[in-house]
Amino acid sequence: MSSFLNGKRILLVISGSIAAIKAPDIIRLFRKKKADIRCLITKGGANFITPLALASLSGNPVAQDMWDESEEASIRHIRLAREADMIIVAPASADFISKMAHGLANDLASTVVLAADSPILVAPAMNHRMWHHSATQRNIHQLKSDGISFVDPEAGAMACGETGIGRLAAPEDILLSAESLFAEEQNHQFLKNRHFIVTAGPTHEPIDPVRYLANRSSGKQGFAIAEALQKLGAKVTLVTGPVYQNTPDRVERVNVETAIEMEKAVENALPADGAIFTAAVADWRFNYSPSKYKKGRSEPELIPIENPDILSNISHRKIDRPSLVVGFAAESENLLENAKVKLQQKGCDWIIANPVIESEDAPSAMGGDYNKIFIASHAGIENWPLLSKKEVASRLASKIADYFNLINEHPSSIISK
Ligand code: CTP
Repeated sequence: MSSFLNGKRILLVISGSIAAIKAPDIIRLFRKKKADIRCLITKGGANFITPLALASLSGNPVAQDMWDESEEASIRHIRLAREADMIIVAPASADFISKMAHGLANDLASTVVLAADSPILVAPAMNHRMWHHSATQRNIHQLKSDGISFVDPEAGAMACGETGIGRLAAPEDILLSAESLFAEEQNHQFLKNRHFIVTAGPTHEPIDPVRYLANRSSGKQGFAIAEALQKLGAKVTLVTGPVYQNTPDRVERVNVETAIEMEKAVENALPADGAIFTAAVADWRFNYSPSKYKKGRSEPELIPIENPDILSNISHRKIDRPSLVVGFAAESENLLENAKVKLQQKGCDWIIANPVIESEDAPSAMGGDYNKIFIASHAGIENWPLLSKKEVASRLASKIADYFNLINEHPSSIISK
């Protein structure tokens, strides 16, 4: 699937927030997708990044001042607004959001936004107290009901030294949201009417009333995949072990703890067109002790009992087997050999192999924000570069959309299993 951004004219409005320093990353990502990106910087934004840097990176002149007297300047706001296929405000400060919500037009950026009839995507960035303030939330609510789209900010440490929600969304997230806005606009919901099941996170296998066996899986990759599939129009059931992740919009989340519960939830969610198994399911559970093990008494007798292999069971189903079943393989060594073996043994269509030990080329996939993956299928091995988990998710969703389009065009090509 070629990117929705190919050849699109994007106007990036950069307002006054320290997150303006991330504009170059946004520009690079959009240019990689062959978008024609042009920047408009407010006075506040220009305190954090120079127009010259933006012009060099975007390959286009930067718009910034409304109050010069040339004839061109008098209609510049109309031209900028008309020429853009999409306006992205990133970072959007609390002040700029407030201006937008109230329809103010006292500088070039706010005037352009008011004169626009193309879709507008807003990526806020501000201190967490400003974000949570009822005035900001009221403004955002107003803008959303006016049809403006948002990429919500992230939680984390802020430039001011405090911690909370308000950090500009990752550039990959902004890109993904822009692509899906274009997709919606063009009604290219490639995965519309398709249902996907995604498993994510670890499982917790109880040992006694207070202890359990777990692993380091954060759920990030699975949640990102669920979100990316939904953004292409799919109905998504996300079956997740215990993780601290926000549920993506319009995704149905089913919380489970153990492998047995996860398998049941996956079976209950069938039928599905595709199933993506990112969960780090515990291979064993233990004989459960209803009373707490006490130290100083006899040693706990932990007897491992093998858990069901959910991926393998779903892949080998005679009835209701999803037409695309994708497994993940977290490996500490012999990545590709093990992936090929798992592809055969588990009976799935693709195995996505990723390293769980840090190397020179890639960090561990476990818990981090980046992933270096290989996709093993019956057609061979694909080697992807090191990417953020969000980018892996969006590319994978595109690859899945391609797979289903192929099936639509050639029903007989549903790969023989
Ligand atoms: N998986 C599963 N159910 C299990 C174990 C694993 O559905 N009980 C799925 C995972 O979600 C993943 C794939 O199988 O998609 C591979 O998981 P992995 O832990 O790498 O492989 P294992 O089969 O557990 O083999 P090993 O731990 O020996 O490498």
